[in-house]
Amino acid sequence: MKKILFVDDEPNILEGLERMLFPLQREWRIAFAGSGQEALDIMKEQAFDVIVSDMRMPGMDGAALLTEVKERYPDTVRFVLSGQSDRETTFRSVGLAHQFIAKPCNPKALKANVDSAFALRELLGNENLKRMISQADTLPALPKTYTALIDELQSEDASVSTVGEIVESDIGMTAKILQLVNSAFFGFGQDVASATQAVSLLGLDTVKALVLMVGVFSQADSKKVSEMLSLNALWRHSMTVGQYSQKISRAEKAGKDLIGDAYTAGVLHDAGQLLLAVNFIDDYRRVLDFASVSSVPLVDAEREVLGCTHAEVGAYLLGIWGLPDSIIQAVAFHHCPNLCPAVSFGPLTAVHAAEIFAHDAHGPDGDCSTPQIDLEYVDSLGLADRVDAWRDACLPCGQEGGCDQ
Ligand SMILES: [Fe+2]
Ligand SMILES: [Fe+2]
Repeated sequence: MKKILFVDDEPNILEGLERMLFPLQREWRIAFAGSGQEALDIMKEQAFDVIVSDMRMPGMDGAALLTEVKERYPDTVRFVLSGQSDRETTFRSVGLAHQFIAKPCNPKALKANVDSAFALRELLGNENLKRMISQADTLPALPKTYTALIDELQSEDASVSTVGEIVESDIGMTAKILQLVNSAFFGFGQDVASATQAVSLLGLDTVKALVLMVGVFSQADSKKVSEMLSLNALWRHSMTVGQYSQKISRAEKAGKDLIGDAYTAGVLHDAGQLLLAVNFIDDYRRVLDFASVSSVPLVDAEREVLGCTHAEVGAYLLGIWGLPDSIIQAVAFHHCPNLCPAVSFGPLTAVHAAEIFAHDAHGPDGDCSTPQIDLEYVDSLGLADRVDAWRDACLPCGQEGGCDQ
């Protein structure tokens, strides 16, 4: 049973929440606190899976409370309950909250957010990893892309389209901007899966403030990581899989939204590898050594050493960040699509096939440890005869080994 703690200084809001959330009492154990200090006292006594806090409170406000919670209880998932009038204060908590819920709280939306944040939690048996993922505020951007973005944002003729193109060419920036734009804080009320759309919805001024003042993006310290894993190679691989996923979706005559989702899912599909390589350098070195010494696929080595794979790690992070389900599904199952309950063509299908074609075109740049399309899976979708057309769309000259540069 999930344990959720709500914090608000206004007694009538807490009473209203209690009434509204009564039907969920069978699935959730819910507690209420009237101040930041009371919340910390309650948390001393028992662990919570989720904390949902108001921002403006006398004494310890929401930002101060979440800073403490992040420090003391890093595996508690942090939600902010925010109204339009709290915009200023909420801005300060961008790096502290995993998700924002709009006021007044809608129990159905809250339940959906909590369920999707936790859908993959059970898969991750490694408590250390869970803690590390919940603590990650950002996925680092490639330094040269980060610099290009800062230069563009600071230039007098900065344009939404150039900023969008830069953001969508980076794994970390794409993931972060989608977390922000999909949160209730900005109130767009729709699933956004495209980084360029995210930039244009937010507008240049907001993106500028978020990047230059709040510091929502960070840069990778590539020196530290590059001894064992080439970040450039991981980026090249991720961009190729993004582009191929887009081409495969076009070949399937998918709608504009699905094509965009497939591109994003491709860019993000190995986000877990980035997170592990940057935050768990020593463990990940052991994974890579194990894979090479034992000649086993990377995902098998990850499961052996860490107890879970980069696919599960990435999907869990994007889940607690509130990205759309189709993206999370594609990330979670890209190495084993047959485990996914979806029964029709979607971003997962495109990413799974794109990964194989990227391997055929460029060699094992990233993590391609399963250089075979899961034919049973594509057959179950009734698409086995489409694989050649997908391959032609990605590798037009029909040759393997890099004809499509
Ligand atoms: Fe992968
Ligand atoms: Fe990959």
